Amino acid sequence: MAISAGSRVMITGGAGYIGAHTAKAVAEMGLVPVVYDSLSSGYREAVHWGPFFHGDIRDPLALREALTLHDVKAVIHFAGLIEVGRSVARPDLFWDHNVSGTTVLLTAMRERSVERLVFSSSAAVYGQDDVGSLAPIPEAAFKAPASPYGATKLAAEWLIEAQCRAYGLSAVALRYFNAAGADPSGLIGEAHDPETHLIPLAFNAALGGGRPLTVFGQDFGTPDGTCLRDYVHVQDLASAHLAALSVELPRGGFEAVNIGTGVGRSVLEVIEAVSRAVGRPVPYSIGDRRAGDPTSLVADPSRALALLGWSPKRSTLDLIVGDAFQWERSPRYGSGQRASRIKTSV
Ligand SMILES: NC(=O)c1ccc[n+]([C@@H]2O[C@H](COP(=O)([O-])OP(=O)(O)OC[C@H]3O[C@@H](n4cnc5c(N)ncnc54)[C@H](O)[C@@H]3O)[C@@H](O)[C@H]2O)c1
Repeated sequence: MAISAGSRVMITGGAGYIGAHTAKAVAEMGLVPVVYDSLSSGYREAVHWGPFFHGDIRDPLALREALTLHDVKAVIHFAGLIEVGRSVARPDLFWDHNVSGTTVLLTAMRERSVERLVFSSSAAVYGQDDVGSLAPIPEAAFKAPASPYGATKLAAEWLIEAQCRAYGLSAVALRYFNAAGADPSGLIGEAHDPETHLIPLAFNAALGGGRPLTVFGQDFGTPDGTCLRDYVHVQDLASAHLAALSVELPRGGFEAVNIGTGVGRSVLEVIEAVSRAVGRPVPYSIGDRRAGDPTSLVADPSRALALLGWSPKRSTLDLIVGDAFQWERSPRYGSGQRASRIKTSV
């Protein structure tokens, strides 16, 4: 689908981590990103590249207003709740934002004849069919999400696919593996609160602002005993959304595509990379395994190349960690004022 230069693309959740990086990439492509965000976990300071609309995706009136006001031609849908642990405690909330919210969005798009959607899905849709397997995961792999969060992502995919068939929308669900890194400018980056992702937690531990890191289990069947994950630079993720926005799909077409590198990195390898960047050890201890943590979550990314022509360009561990460190050193938004601390302590 060709989206002409200057067209407006709504980015729900565009004040969040991946959404803000994608808004930048959309603007650099000559399109206008219209950020629609409730700011429940995102930051107004992360919105630089287009109009901002403060709204909740569960609010049909606000959505309709934003789609109409800005004459939106396509939607990239990031908005939602993301903390796996919280989804266990509050599954109702996750279904409300992630599934009901997606229903409201799809209805508003249909009413406004917006016919292209790119959806943030997740590797959390896959199950542990083959516990302990180190094999890369293809899209057709068994789905049995280990958390309510993963279940909401799979349910939203199914909802979108059914609405594509029923109403002629065309959509791509991108199943990201581990999003990581930051824009090299240091202007935007990862600022989840609470932060649950390994790389920012390792920086926190190394720079003295956070607790020592706990490594959850060193008895997995991997070379160093710690879990393997597939880290994708957030800039590469952003470019995957651009490819998904413009890929030719039939009316009513739906595709689900893994976005990963195909290479698994262990928790200890990531800790070593952060230590190298900072120039000091990351303090950590070994804890128990977490329930439901698979040994390995590594993408088979071949479909992303075949369908979208996408392959990662910046997703080596050292580039990811180097760009994340640049963000940690910048006058960042979000919790903590690490920039000043780093100047005095490193
Ligand atoms: N970060 C990862 O590693 C990762 C991996 C796989 C999938 N994902 C998916 O990518 C998407 C973005 O993740 P992120 O890491 O950027 O998270 P984030 O929390 O930084 O961004 C989410 C944004 O959505 C907004 N939001 C939440 N609920 C909303 C609602 N009801 N209405 C409007 N706005 C709302 C928040 O304010 C925030 O700006 C999520 O859908 C997540 O499930 C993330």
